[in-house]
Amino acid sequence: MARSFYIHTFGCQMNESDSQRMGEALARAGWAATDAPDGADLVLVNTCSIREKAEDKLFSALGRYRLLKSRRGTKIGVAGCVAQQEKSRLLQRAPFVDFVLGPDHLEKVPDLVERGGIETDFVDTHEYVFPQADPETSRGRATAFVTAMKGCDNVCSFCVVPYTRGREASRPYAEIVREINDLVGVGVREVTLIGQNVNSYAGGCTFAELIRRVAAVPGLLRIRFTTSHPMDLSPELVRCFYEVPSLMPHFHLPVQHGADTVLERMRRKYTIAEYERRIAELPAGIALTSDIICGFPGETDEEHAKNVEFLRRTPYDNLFSFVYSPRPHTGAILKIEEWGEVPRDVALKRLEEVQALQMARTLRRRRERIGFDVEVLVEDAGFGRSRENWTVHFEGDANPGDLVTVRVQSASLVALRGVQTAVVDRAAPQTRRRLAVVNAAECCG
Ligand code: 5AD
Ligand code: SF4
Repeated sequence: MARSFYIHTFGCQMNESDSQRMGEALARAGWAATDAPDGADLVLVNTCSIREKAEDKLFSALGRYRLLKSRRGTKIGVAGCVAQQEKSRLLQRAPFVDFVLGPDHLEKVPDLVERGGIETDFVDTHEYVFPQADPETSRGRATAFVTAMKGCDNVCSFCVVPYTRGREASRPYAEIVREINDLVGVGVREVTLIGQNVNSYAGGCTFAELIRRVAAVPGLLRIRFTTSHPMDLSPELVRCFYEVPSLMPHFHLPVQHGADTVLERMRRKYTIAEYERRIAELPAGIALTSDIICGFPGETDEEHAKNVEFLRRTPYDNLFSFVYSPRPHTGAILKIEEWGEVPRDVALKRLEEVQALQMARTLRRRRERIGFDVEVLVEDAGFGRSRENWTVHFEGDANPGDLVTVRVQSASLVALRGVQTAVVDRAAPQTRRRLAVVNAAECCG
């Protein structure tokens, strides 16, 4: 019988996609996916280190998997950003771990299970070859992530990503378009182009040109992308939102803070006036979302007030807000004494204020849709997403991949609910056959 693996994923879409690639590599080497860790011969934890809490989650998960190992000899591997950040230190802290691999070595998983050890050297940008997705693992699914680039050349002072993901490297556009063609061939109807700084893409054309090439793939209904830096928002990309019908009206453009002085300490390279000038060019009605950090070192009451003022006047569709978490190898951690740490209770109070402000607005915007139809791409029975990327639950008989309209009956902060009113475009029937099963990533908020 084939040996079985279970992949536990934390963090962002990049990690979800990396887990998929590692699952495919294991499947090619004769392993079989299983959906529970208890019976697995290998448990692979794909980790996130964006905030300390994410890192803590790894160590509590490892505590549980250690018991499995002592009971049934389960092999344990650690991949992802904590692996890259901690390297051999991880083995000192958790000696029962069999192997450690960074994000540049996804395809070495089957080999590492056999020999153990550590693979965390970055591959030189020019030599890096992006792992090819196996379209069969997406057969019967409506949506897929497609890697456009990796790494980040920015130096935001709070962010560990440049350290854990290395320098930017873009995937050649022909490879991306070919992969999307193959994905459409197995029933995928929506792709999200992913990269840590996706709009600085440079794989033989600009990011705006990449979107137009992807939009030309026959049968593809929807395109999204994430995540973007405001300074790489080109007028050509803005034009895509007006001119490319399959580019969905949703844009995640993290601002991080509403005060120029904080943005400067964060080394974000723009002022609020510049950010506002740029978003003013976007089409009306686009669902603009953002990230905010509260309690960044040195944040004064006045700076927080500026942040709140900015958020009040900016009609974000949704906001992901976090308390600042000091990260190793970052610019801010070196300055934290000089700038001054914000006491945790103060940071939390500020976060609550920001969240309350946005929650009221998000709820209002969702409720405005009650009584109207929204277009939904069905991902599972009774579940899909609107054009704005809102979660929609509905009653109806549509299958995954169908594009339907749903009459909204109620709305909460997390989802719309309603009934299916029409099928706009029916998906070709697909036999569901997946080689690698990877559970959805756990959020590290
Ligand atoms: N502390 C808190 N939040 C952070 N983020 C990144 N680094 C940190 C940190 N050290 C947030 C940013 C980023 C999002 C993915 O996570 O807002 O956009
Ligand atoms: Fe981190 Fe994003 Fe800044 Fe890159 S652009 S350093 S990923 S916050």
